[in-house]
Amino acid sequence: MSLGRRFIERCGARLAIAAALLAPAAACAQAATGAAGTPAAPPPVAATAPTASGTPAASGTPAAAAAAGAAAEPSVALGRRAYTSYCARCHGLNLVVSSSAFYDLRTFPKHDKERFTRSVLKGARAMPAWEGTIKPEELESIWLFIGSVNGW
Ligand code: HEC
Repeated sequence: MSLGRRFIERCGARLAIAAALLAPAAACAQAATGAAGTPAAPPPVAATAPTASGTPAASGTPAAAAAAGAAAEPSVALGRRAYTSYCARCHGLNLVVSSSAFYDLRTFPKHDKERFTRSVLKGARAMPAWEGTIKPEELESIWLFIGSVNGW
């Protein structure tokens, strides 16, 4: 009965997979008996494949969009980078200012974005003007970053 032994071997191997997939062992026996050992395998594969290939495709799109958008769209991440390179030397890392000579951005009024934009672009007393140095999306991003640090 070599056919039977082969069935047991194949089925035994498949049992591990079937058990993992919580498929009843009977399904394997049934499928194998009907010389349909192959159909028994596809369901797990078919069930896994669309999920596996579907998930990266689905998550890949927003990720790609986010990556592409990060270059041009204002974001907290871009703001953090721009703030760190342009503003942190005076206003402190993460807005933690080291001297009262510099404005403490943690106290900046949340609702006065206009003043923020004007002061940063045109300068405010001891602060230099940033117009022409920082890009509009960087200014917007720095505002977002300040908001994220201040918990707005
Ligand atoms: C060379 C040091 C220096 C740098 C760099 C600097 N600032 Fe300032 N900033 C100041 C000082 C000094 C003040 C306080 C001005 C005053 O009130 O006399 C100030 C004030 C401010 C104010 C408050 C202005 C107001 O309306 O009262 C904002 C907002 C501000 N800075 C944002 C920024 C941003 C954003 C950057 C980076 C793009 C930046 N600063 C870079 C020195 C600096």
